Amino acid sequence: MSTTTTLVDLAAVKAKQQKTWSSGDFSVVASRIVLVSEQLAETADLRAGWSVLDVACGNGNATLAAARSGAHAIGVDYVPALLEDGRGRALAEGLDVEFRDGDAEALPIQDHSVDAVLSVFGTMFAPDHQRTADEVVRVTKPGGTVALASWTPGGFIGQMFRVITSHVPAPAGVASPLLWGTEEHLVELFGTAVDTIESRERECVFRFTTAEEFVTFFRRWYGPTLKAFEALDETGQAALAADLAELAGRYDRNQDGGSVSIPSTYLETVISLR
Ligand SMILES: C[S@@+](CC[C@H](N)C(=O)[O-])C[C@H]1O[C@@H](n2cnc3c(N)ncnc32)[C@H](O)[C@@H]1O
Repeated sequence: MSTTTTLVDLAAVKAKQQKTWSSGDFSVVASRIVLVSEQLAETADLRAGWSVLDVACGNGNATLAAARSGAHAIGVDYVPALLEDGRGRALAEGLDVEFRDGDAEALPIQDHSVDAVLSVFGTMFAPDHQRTADEVVRVTKPGGTVALASWTPGGFIGQMFRVITSHVPAPAGVASPLLWGTEEHLVELFGTAVDTIESRERECVFRFTTAEEFVTFFRRWYGPTLKAFEALDETGQAALAADLAELAGRYDRNQDGGSVSIPSTYLETVISLR
């Protein structure tokens, strides 16, 4: 009797994800979540003069937050257009920042060379969780700091992913990115490298004039939502739009028939490495 094992082609999954993050324009979405990076840099208690790496930096929200703390900041992402946007932002503020094209699962950074690693809704999206965590540990100096922001499964963005995958299934056999939004998973991933770990839930609030405007915004600018709509026919698109608007209406904390304010829970974690 033979046993068949289906191996997931994570390289193919990642190549597709890279196209997804290159679609739309994440810089527009990034402008709505600046506070998360500023708060993370503060919680991580970065020190001037440190070398700080921002993994999956997009257009550099956390890279710039680190540089504003007086650190030498390096941002790594695999979407060149976002890195170019980040260079423009750094130039405008005269900040000490470097952006490198690279993969979170194979960081273009020397062993034990940075004092701190930050990642805001970044590491969580690389398909091989263990390889990504191992890379973070490899590049950080002993005793260094790792600070992560990851959407929680039950929060608004976590639920948005659940709605999207109920219309367009996620690739089979790939672990959910939302696992990074639980401390148990992080303890498992970082294992014996951890000296101390501290997590707290925080909220990032998305504000739109209507729930429908939220859908239009994410459909136009946010790669994963844009690609999900592209994968559906007209009827499917209408159904997905209706479900997303219903979700936004349900999470709206105003509930007054006017503009919507949607709190989205994420896990903020600071790990001190051994
Ligand atoms: C939700 S965005 C967050 C961007 C940024 N950290 C911020 O807070 O604005 C996710 C980012 O992760 C990047 N990304 C996802 N998987 C990656 C990988 N394997 N290697 C490098 N970047 C990756 C995407 O290109 C995208 O810029």
